[in-house]
Amino acid sequence: MRQFPKEFIFGAATAAYQAEGAVNEGGRGPCYWDEFLHRSESRFNGDVASDFYHQYPVDLKLSNEYGLNGIRISIAWSRVIPNGTGEVNEEGLAFYDRLIDECLANGVEPVVTLHHFDTPLSLFHQGDWLNRDNIDHFVRFAEVCFKRFGDRVKKWVSINEPWSVVAGQYIIGHFPPNIRYDVAKAIQAMHHMMIAHAKVVDTYKRMELDGEVGIIHILESKYPITESEEDREAAYVEDVLANQFMLDACLKGTYTTETLAVIERLMTLQQTTLVIEEGDMEWLELASSQNDFLGVNYYASHFLAAYEGESGIHHNGTGEKGTSVFGLKGIGKRVSNPDVPTTDWDWPIYPAGLTDMLVRVHRQYPNYKAMYVTENGMGYKDDLIDGSIDDTPRIDYIAQHLNAILDAIEQGVTVRGYFLWSLMDVLSWTNGFNKRYGLFYVDFETQERLPKKSARWMREVANRRQVIQ
Ligand code: BG6
Repeated sequence: MRQFPKEFIFGAATAAYQAEGAVNEGGRGPCYWDEFLHRSESRFNGDVASDFYHQYPVDLKLSNEYGLNGIRISIAWSRVIPNGTGEVNEEGLAFYDRLIDECLANGVEPVVTLHHFDTPLSLFHQGDWLNRDNIDHFVRFAEVCFKRFGDRVKKWVSINEPWSVVAGQYIIGHFPPNIRYDVAKAIQAMHHMMIAHAKVVDTYKRMELDGEVGIIHILESKYPITESEEDREAAYVEDVLANQFMLDACLKGTYTTETLAVIERLMTLQQTTLVIEEGDMEWLELASSQNDFLGVNYYASHFLAAYEGESGIHHNGTGEKGTSVFGLKGIGKRVSNPDVPTTDWDWPIYPAGLTDMLVRVHRQYPNYKAMYVTENGMGYKDDLIDGSIDDTPRIDYIAQHLNAILDAIEQGVTVRGYFLWSLMDVLSWTNGFNKRYGLFYVDFETQERLPKKSARWMREVANRRQVIQ
């Protein structure tokens, strides 16, 4: 039976706003989600979430008991620098000291992300990633964290999923500032995030700390629904926009001519052009050879058809199957593939898309040093029946994706770890608390944890380094 390499990390992931709660404790300042999810129409918020701020010793003990040797956590920028700029909050730093030490005491390596969707509110109101000043504020925050935790944290992630951030903010509109169909803004903000990443990598390397630094992208494969030229073009354009633009920036250190041709056409559709300032390309070039790893978040792939109708997007945020719509004028429309099952939130379950993506990065960007699958998992409405949770569909999903990783490793790809989203049930940004992903069920009334069937299964997988069928 196939085995994962000896040093392979079997971990699980969390993110500060989705897990910590305690939004008014320890001198934390607000991030933009605090404001957004307190609007009257909001069905939920992260005020308490999974109470990780207080429960982390429980979660780390469970992680250890269930065979995990890695955890993704993120540091809330506004816990450390409440306003985003200005004063550093010692209480915030002290919390992350305790959290990191607890990870290490439990033999669970912390992989730490600096930006997981949660820009401090004041910087958000100044334009967030559309404002170039955000770049230097972010680099300062990174430097504060490297100085304080760099002796114990050996794997750092600059930014989690730039594409999801800008797609949510400017295309789908379900993230603040809730702008829809503005592909040009999304591209411009992504470019700034790439410069921020490059400067963070440079800062880390200059500090000569003993560890690794990288970035995480959501990388979902895009396939044409038919072999027609128009459908192939739709898949290609969405791929360039969502995947290739940033892979080029991070791993090639430049935007290739082919990538720029698509990007410029998309900018022209909105009567604008991409602003690249003097020195930007040098930053990208410098960082591209210094990244230590690429984190790949993968949940689904998409099937595309050509689309010339008006842009229309409906986000399925309730789990009512079959309600998603995603069509962008002049780009393409995501359509269902009758051969591919979907989750209740309409996410196509297509493990081959993960193998394809890992192999593609390996071939197209041969200077990547290592990849980690930093998120993968299945949103599911876990039912608590007689005090236990049988989440067999989630186990099947994970097994298929672990096999997809083994397929890629067999083709020569360097993959060093797998982090399940999520460690315990957490808040889902645009869905709330009924879209559960955790290995550990959370009773959001009592904050009690209950290992699901998938947790017991994962322990076996990690122990044997094999996919248990
Ligand atoms: C990733 C994010 O995009 O997907 C996580 O990094 C997120 O923060 C996860 O929770 C699952 O998405 P969702 O919308 O189902 O919660």
